[in-house]
Formats: sequence, C-alpha cells, structure tokens
Amino acid sequence: MQKVIVTGGTGYIGSHTVVEFQNEGFEVVVVDNLSNSNIEVLDGIERITGKKPVFYKVDVANSAELEKVFAEHSDSIAVIHFAAYKAVGDSVKNPLKYYHNNVEGLINVLSKMIKYAIPNLVFSSSCTVYGQPEVLPVTEQSPVVKPESPYGNTKKINEEIIVDTLASTDFLKAISLRYFNPIGAHPSSEIGELPIGVPDNLLPYITQTAIGLRDELSVFGNDYNTPDGTAIRDYIYVCDLAKAHVVAVKRLLKSKEQYEIFNIGTGKGSSVLEIIQAFERSTGVKLNYKIVARRPGDVEKVWADTSKANKVLGWKAESSLDQTVKSAWEWERKVRER
Ligand code: UFG
Repeated sequence: MQKVIVTGGTGYIGSHTVVEFQNEGFEVVVVDNLSNSNIEVLDGIERITGKKPVFYKVDVANSAELEKVFAEHSDSIAVIHFAAYKAVGDSVKNPLKYYHNNVEGLINVLSKMIKYAIPNLVFSSSCTVYGQPEVLPVTEQSPVVKPESPYGNTKKINEEIIVDTLASTDFLKAISLRYFNPIGAHPSSEIGELPIGVPDNLLPYITQTAIGLRDELSVFGNDYNTPDGTAIRDYIYVCDLAKAHVVAVKRLLKSKEQYEIFNIGTGKGSSVLEIIQAFERSTGVKLNYKIVARRPGDVEKVWADTSKANKVLGWKAESSLDQTVKSAWEWERKVRER
C-alpha cells in the first residue's frame, strides 16, 4: 500500500483530503498540532472510510518533533502539505506568527523530504497570489503579485522556496495547487468546516446565521463593478478540491515534470448575493442579511481558468453550487445537534 504524509490532516481541507486518499487505497499518516482543529475529526474520517489514519500531534514548525514522523515513515511516497495558519485578518495583526509557522513549516517539511528521500510534494497554495487580476479568468500564467496580507504572502514565498529547493536537487518533484474558495462538507456530514469563534469566511457565516448563532450576515460592499455590485469568487466544493490532491500525487508518480502549478476552482464566478440565493434556494431557509461597507483587502472579482487541471490532471469540479451550499448547511445542522 502506498503511503502519504498529510500535514494539517485534521483541518478543513486536510480532513476531506485524507478521506479521498484512504478511499483510493493509500495509507495515510496525519500530522497536525490541533491548533485549529479537533482530534475527533479522526473519528469522522474513520466512520466514513472504515479506517483511522495514523496520527501524530506534531507542529510542523518544530523540526525535532517532525523528525520522528519522517524517520518512522520514510517509506512514504509523497507529502501533502496543508499545515498553516490561514486567517487573513489575524495575519495582518500578527505577521511574524504567520511567517514563522507557515514558512518555517515548509522549510522543515522540505528538509525532511530531502533527508529521507521522499520525492513528491503537493503544496496547498491559493489564488490570493494573483491579487486582483487584470484579465479574467486567471490562468496559471497570470502575473503573481505581492498578496494583500502576510498570510497570502506566505503562500507566494512558499511557492518560491519550493522552486529554489527543487532546482538544488535531482530527485524532488512538486505540484502547487492554487485553491480558489473551498466550501461545503462531506456528504456524510461526518466532517466539515469548524471555525473557532466568529467565522471570517462567507459560507460558515451564512450557515451560522441561518442556524441562529449570528443575528445577520453582513454583505461586504454592493458597489463593486460586478453585475449585482457584490464581490465575485470561484467557490469550489471541498470534496472536489480534495480529489485534486489524489490526482496530483498520481501525476507526480508518473510524469517527468519537476514542478507544476494548477488552478483548482470551478471556472465559474459567483457573487455574494448569488451565494445567498443558492443557499435560500437549496435549503428553503431564509437568510437575514444587510449590506455594509466593503471589507478592507478584498478583491473585487476572481475566478479560475481550470483548463490546465482539466487537461493535464484529468480533474474537474463536479458538484453543483446548490448541492455544495446545501452540504454546508447539512453539516452545520449536524454539528449543532451534537
Ligand atoms: N463576505 C461577506 N460577508 C462575510 C464574509 C465574507 O460579504 O461575512 C464576502 C467577502 O467580502 C468576499 C466573499 O464573501 O467578497 C468571500 O469571502 P471569504 O472570506 O469567504 O473568502 P475570501 O475570498 O476573502 O478568502 C479566501 C480564503 C483565504 C484566501 C483568499 C484569497 O478564505 O484564505 O480567499 O485567496 F486568502
């Protein structure tokens, strides 16, 4: 059985990705410091797949702790590196926390991969590296800019660190997946997004408002240059996104390319108001919302050209927006019933 190490494997995207790898017959070793996730996620994974992954409560920024994982699993064929802080606003207030954790985490992972000759890396990057693109949809060739936030900048810097490191070795290969906006939850509602405190992101804010945890959703700005005035993003179902990591590893195993980048989105943009409509339509629940000022740092519109991932990886987003949004609602309801 082929083995992969998944850092950040109890997090939102990480846990869905562990499920997809296990469903495809891989053995998975999860590394997570549980700073933004919960150990019970492993039970959810077990209920879905029938198997609990091997787990290490380890901080990737701690080289000595990480050493043990790699020494014990040096037969792994790939590392999927998610572990990172991801709150945009917090990163503006605490930039060094982000540079320390996110950049040092990757440096440690790459160092161990070199030491133990583990040849393949899938890195979780973000469309934030494109800033506000001049031409839409964005392709992988679109210019990369300095992102608005220190969080986003750690993604850009980490992509550069990967390129420089690959150039210095003859066996390492990597794929960076630039995610657009992941939403939704596994159809079983056994795992999903569990933000700590007040959510920053749109979908958890919507579902928490609908369930009664928040009074109303604030729509940040309706004066953008978009058809309904609200900002546009490319919302991708988290299970579709998770599957992209499995095909990325399979690609690394067979292709000769040392480094590739893929946009992982649906190719379709939706405005904030369209997401609210999709939520009301698919769940039958009416949402309280009001229009407020723009949120500083938000781009106006971004969506992906996914033709490279479609062609080269043979991967395509499959879930409809309504199905995806509904899965987030089903998860929210299940979480609150517990
Ligand atoms: N929004 C609201 N109200 C809210 C929350 C969000 O109107 O309460 C709007 C935002 O203004 C934006 C859209 O909904 O127009 C999506 O916002 P999210 O916070 O869900 O997502 P972002 O596009 O801002 O951020 C995401 C990821 C980040 C990443 C960024 C750019 O969460 O990790 O994309 O890649 F950095």
